[in-house]
Amino acid sequence: MIFQNIATVAGEKIDLHIDDGNNAIVAASHLLALPARLDPHVHFRTPGLEHKENWTTGAQAAINGGCTMVFDMPNTLPPTITEETLIAKKVLIDSQLTDANIPLRYRLFIGADKQHLDQLAKVKHQVIGIKVFMGCSTGNLVIDDDESLHAVFEIAAKEKMIVAVHAEDEALMCARKPYFQDENNYACHSEIRNVEVATRAVEKAIQLAKHYGAKLYVLHVSTMEEIALIKTAKTEGVNVYAETTPHHLFFNTDAYLALGGKAVVNPPLRESIHQPALWQAIKEGVIDTIGSDHAPHTLMEKNKKYGECPSGMPGIEFVLPLLFTALKQGKISLEKIVDLTAKRAREIFDITETNEDWVLVDPHLTAKVEKTASKCGWSPYMGLKLTGWPQYTVMRGKVYALKN
Ligand code: DOR
Ligand code: ZN
Repeated sequence: MIFQNIATVAGEKIDLHIDDGNNAIVAASHLLALPARLDPHVHFRTPGLEHKENWTTGAQAAINGGCTMVFDMPNTLPPTITEETLIAKKVLIDSQLTDANIPLRYRLFIGADKQHLDQLAKVKHQVIGIKVFMGCSTGNLVIDDDESLHAVFEIAAKEKMIVAVHAEDEALMCARKPYFQDENNYACHSEIRNVEVATRAVEKAIQLAKHYGAKLYVLHVSTMEEIALIKTAKTEGVNVYAETTPHHLFFNTDAYLALGGKAVVNPPLRESIHQPALWQAIKEGVIDTIGSDHAPHTLMEKNKKYGECPSGMPGIEFVLPLLFTALKQGKISLEKIVDLTAKRAREIFDITETNEDWVLVDPHLTAKVEKTASKCGWSPYMGLKLTGWPQYTVMRGKVYALKN
């Protein structure tokens, strides 16, 4: 297939040849070719939670979002915390991707678990890194004692594995819960898991990375206080990298009113004052990547009252339209979109395999979010009018025409 006269990020016009055995010529002067998105943070729910998502539906959602590689999290059922569970998970994933006929590129995180710290080094060549939940989230993976946390960072440094932290301080949020928990008010979630809950954990993780010389990736950074800590650490030469999410960039605590339980996510939505700080941190390179933290739950689960409603929201499909809408509003440059969605994650996680995967975006197309391929069937972005939609995703030489 040839996409004729397509724009590149560098501002040139080229004919993009895809060697897919199809001689069709597509007039593409209205399209822009970007490297396909790498989503470093998804929860595709296999095994055990497949009523929420699986790799057949998840892969379709990824392709719809111009994404051809994902890093999947270990908080499944059973959790991915041993070589055995890791291998079993891969078998299931490969079979579901075959069913979808979508050979999505993927890597898996191993979850750090107190009882299974010996497994970390064992699987180092089979995983993208170690995921540490410093505070409880969905599932019951958590490292909330200093001894185990030290051990993880020590192993990671020795084995040259990256530590990806869910940085929320378990003790502090447990202490706050009785004061703020209110089953009739989802917004209490942001009070229980307040800014200090995040900053305390980020501070500790940075100290450990510094002490042991480990490489640290701070997942879903959502506050200006975390940004300040990471900025300082980067200046001091600590090997620390930061991710933010679409929901922390585009939603704040006002969203509880319209979304109710659908807005409940860990770390929680923040006061609006944090949003400009996130955009500024992207501009300055303090935030390196955007991970969708695609965490689907069914609507039935999300409609439960506070305390029973699980945390997390889907998001993999709409990262690019959201960012292109921000581009139109002057909040971000095209170059930064490429850094955030593809380039930096490849560098940080040492993805050496090259690929010729592309996402072809119509930057001027405006459309409402109306549907999703995610098995959960809903999106917090539903009804939003966004400008800049992927029209084709190219993966391993195959062209996927999208019906956004
Ligand atoms: O909101 C969240 N949902 N945060 C997490 O850390 C986990 C995720 C999930 O798996 O549902
Ligand atoms: Zn997550």
